[in-house]
Amino acid sequence: MTKSVIRFSLLFTLLTFIDVSISASNVFNVVSFGAKPDGVTDSTGAFLKAWQGACVSASSATVVVPKGTFLLKVITFGGPCKSKITFQVAGTVIAPEDYRTFGNSGFWILFNKVNRFSLVGGTFDARANGFWSCRKSGQNCPPGVRSISFNSAKDVIISGVKSMNSQVTHMTLNGCTNVVVRNVKLVAPGNSPNTDGFHVQHSTGVTFTGSTVQTGDDCVAIGPGTRNLLITKLACGPGHGVSIGSLAKELKEDGVENVTVSSSVFTGSQNGVRIKSWARPSNGFVRTVFFQDLVMKNVENPIIIDQNYCPTHEGCPNEYSGVKISQVTYKNIQGTSATQEAMKLVCSKSSPCTGITLQDIKLTYNKGTPATSFCFNAVGKSLGVIQPTSCLNR
Ligand SMILES: *[C@@H]1O[C@H](CO)[C@@H](O)[C@H](O)[C@H]1NC(C)=O
Repeated sequence: MTKSVIRFSLLFTLLTFIDVSISASNVFNVVSFGAKPDGVTDSTGAFLKAWQGACVSASSATVVVPKGTFLLKVITFGGPCKSKITFQVAGTVIAPEDYRTFGNSGFWILFNKVNRFSLVGGTFDARANGFWSCRKSGQNCPPGVRSISFNSAKDVIISGVKSMNSQVTHMTLNGCTNVVVRNVKLVAPGNSPNTDGFHVQHSTGVTFTGSTVQTGDDCVAIGPGTRNLLITKLACGPGHGVSIGSLAKELKEDGVENVTVSSSVFTGSQNGVRIKSWARPSNGFVRTVFFQDLVMKNVENPIIIDQNYCPTHEGCPNEYSGVKISQVTYKNIQGTSATQEAMKLVCSKSSPCTGITLQDIKLTYNKGTPATSFCFNAVGKSLGVIQPTSCLNR
């Protein structure tokens, strides 16, 4: 080697070293704070210390959870933090098997008021088998906890995360702004009770892309106050489909506006795309919704609006939903229905659904019998081929 090459490579090594040492000073590895990757030692305190270190860091910081299995009890990662934080998980995080340890917390892992935050990778296993058994046996069980919750978070990326065996909902976004969720996998048995996939409410500018949800309740549940939501490249099923609702739980309720569900596949799910509201008075609304480029494979109710939801026939005094539904477009939805009634648009008796558009719908019923549609108080127009025949009022 010539002198200049040696000098150059020395310089390069030095630069690389400096670079590593700068970033290393902002790495908060939970193991350095006492977490044990053995799946039995409680690592909650260690995770909190690592978080607190990262959260006060003057420059962007990374919390690292290395390979191994870490036991975490109920935990809140509180913000806002000083700088951008990446929470990088290579290992598996498990919950205590005894569901009674959660009490009435409502959550297992909560990210509260974080901003400029990324959660990357990792498996989160809530191990809810015992909890589901309690539920199924009709005993008096605690209400259950959501696995991963984001409350009042802003500018968040959640990527490559896997959540398994949640007690109730896998992942909740409440009061959030500007969130991208990509390549996330949520898995629980199809017969596990109330295991929703994603639940989003009171949030603006959320995108779910490339996720797989196989669970026992809604793949995505969209609650009041959701605006500018995009769900794309979702694989849903088993599960109850994508559901706007249930709405009209409250008399005074925020509306749902500008929701798109596109380029997604529903397999063996109870519903495809659903809008659901209690038959109760409410000032809530649903407007500007696009359901497009969807494939239904053996789905019980591929297209459904149900404004008569009143499962217990209690607290639904006059059986009319006050929720006003308008400007809903169903475009290019194809595949098979597991029931004959492939399209069901049952709107409120008091405020009809208006501005419904059906375009290029082709849903068939498996048994060689043509699929049917049923409408009540649904007003709009049809474009292109509609199969089953449109039942909309003009
Ligand atoms: C509707 O939501 C999308 C995100 O899905 C966003 O890009 C668009 O700007 C929103 N439209 C309006 C009018 O806010």
